[in-house]
Amino acid sequence: MTTVNTEKLSSARFAEATDAFVEEFTASVGFDQRMARQDIRGSLAHAAMLCKIGILTEQELADIQRGLAQIGGEIERGEFVWSIKQEDVHMNIEARLTDLIGIAGKKLHTGRSRNDQVATDIRLYLRDDIAAILVQLERLQTALLDKAEQEADTIMPGFTHLQVAQPVTFGHHLMAWFEMLCRDRERLRDCLKRINVMPLGAAALAGTSYPIDRHMTAELLGFFRPSNNSLDSVSDRDFAIEFAAAGSLIMMHLSRFSEELVLWASAQFDFIDIPDAFCTGSSIMPQKKNPDVPELVRGKSGRVAGHLMSLLMLMKSQPLAYNKDNQEDKEPLFDTADTLINCLRAFADMMPHVKAKRENMYNSAKRGFATATDLADYLVRKGMAFRDAHEVVGLAVRLGLESGRDLSELTLNELQGFSSSIGAEVFDILKLEGSVASRNHIGGTAPEQVRKAIAAARGQVGA
Ligand code: ARG
Repeated sequence: MTTVNTEKLSSARFAEATDAFVEEFTASVGFDQRMARQDIRGSLAHAAMLCKIGILTEQELADIQRGLAQIGGEIERGEFVWSIKQEDVHMNIEARLTDLIGIAGKKLHTGRSRNDQVATDIRLYLRDDIAAILVQLERLQTALLDKAEQEADTIMPGFTHLQVAQPVTFGHHLMAWFEMLCRDRERLRDCLKRINVMPLGAAALAGTSYPIDRHMTAELLGFFRPSNNSLDSVSDRDFAIEFAAAGSLIMMHLSRFSEELVLWASAQFDFIDIPDAFCTGSSIMPQKKNPDVPELVRGKSGRVAGHLMSLLMLMKSQPLAYNKDNQEDKEPLFDTADTLINCLRAFADMMPHVKAKRENMYNSAKRGFATATDLADYLVRKGMAFRDAHEVVGLAVRLGLESGRDLSELTLNELQGFSSSIGAEVFDILKLEGSVASRNHIGGTAPEQVRKAIAAARGQVGA
């Protein structure tokens, strides 16, 4: 940040200059300058409203518009000189505006306070960031749908307790991730409803004595409506906490995907190949190819959960209305949004290139007696009670273990030794293909159902 020594704004009440360290300590311009675009947008709407109610003349409004446009350009080009003497983004822009256009610049803050201004800016900022996060979420979902389509018939072991449980299709597994992201999108959209309410007009805390038109400002800024209570408006940060909570859930989901990708890319699983572009090597071990992207994303989930805690603790026990504590909301919020956008982007870029090693997945499912439940269900259909069937299949598994064979590799004779009701058709269900195909209901793993789920989901992501 470039700083310049200009005099402290509105310092008339103070007999002494601010302590140099306190000035630095209390300034937020180092990080809240990121909201400059939103701050200008809010000021333009406020000025237009002030003009409509006769507080500003048409000429003054035009000057403000021209000045703010110039400032926007200076910021965009990196020419704007930010000063900690002006404390924050709001006062920096206002001071520059007054430099540029004189008296009209000093009138902009009529009927407004930094308290309602900052509350408005963060809401506008988060609204923009949520839009960017939703774009990346949808990209990742589309990538998952495409991959699921390619892998609708690919058989892999499904796990419980990380032990082979029953065969599933890889497409079905990918669609489980897709579902998590659907809920994530819903949560963000829901949180947006509460973000999109306008605090401007609450002023410092009690409202203002000017005949402001809050509906007009709300409409100009694309807010659903003006907020209902001025005290609440300047102090509420629920929406920030909600956003961080929704973000933490997204990151928790990404950490679960990451963990699976890391496991699957290991030589022990060897289920997938993550392309070189998303991995790095080791500085000492020449053979290594490390799954850095999923590992890093898994790690970053911790910091977002940390931001959620920061924001919750920041708000805990705060009396009404605005307190300077609230200045601490920005860094965790910005970092939450940045982390989400970057992690989702990395995943969306990587997913299309993750290659399934179909044969390895298939063989792994075969080694784990994944169709044991299918054999028990078969015996139940033949009239055996499920508990007895469970026992019988246990014995068959033991034989398989002892002789190093899967259930489908036992002979009919051997199987009939466990139950005389077993017929030759049992091999249809003992095969992995038969097992997955039989789970053919809504939400089941059968390739036919996976294809239906994908087709239904396409509409949801507009892909
Ligand atoms: N920089 C402040 C913040 O981020 C702006 C509001 C300051 N208001 C005040 N009365 N000091 O919250």
